[in-house]
Amino acid sequence: MKILVINGPNINMLGIREPAIYGKQSYKDLVKFIKDSAKARGLKAVLFQSNSESAIVTKIQKAFNRFDGIVINPAAYTHTSVAILDALKAAAVPAVEVHISKVSEREAFRQVSYAGMYCFQTFAGFGFEGYAKAMDALIEKLK
Ligand code: DQA
Repeated sequence: MKILVINGPNINMLGIREPAIYGKQSYKDLVKFIKDSAKARGLKAVLFQSNSESAIVTKIQKAFNRFDGIVINPAAYTHTSVAILDALKAAAVPAVEVHISKVSEREAFRQVSYAGMYCFQTFAGFGFEGYAKAMDALIEKLK
């Protein structure tokens, strides 16, 4: 099973950005966590991080027929991007949404998730562990 793990804007700033919300671990630590979690589950994971909405849309489009599942943390684009929602619908690859923080307990503007309207499940507030939970959800969905 081959999965694409997408992280959106400012996720590359983990460890530096708002550590009280996102923790002290870096994006490099997250990459290691995701790779180790995928390996432990026998998954082939391709990782992609971008600060650009356009690059994320293109990456999702290219996942069509190439990946069995997508794990996506669209970061701030979660709350604004109809383009990412449409790309997910177009590629039609089963997808799970992840957020490091518990967005439901944060600002009003974070309460809408466009990507979440496509994703069959969301894990928010579990820190890095949410990515592993998303992998398990994809494995369960695809078996
Ligand atoms: C986030 C939550 C978003 O609201 C925020 O814009 C992010 C990160 C999270 O992982 O908790 O950049 O997606």
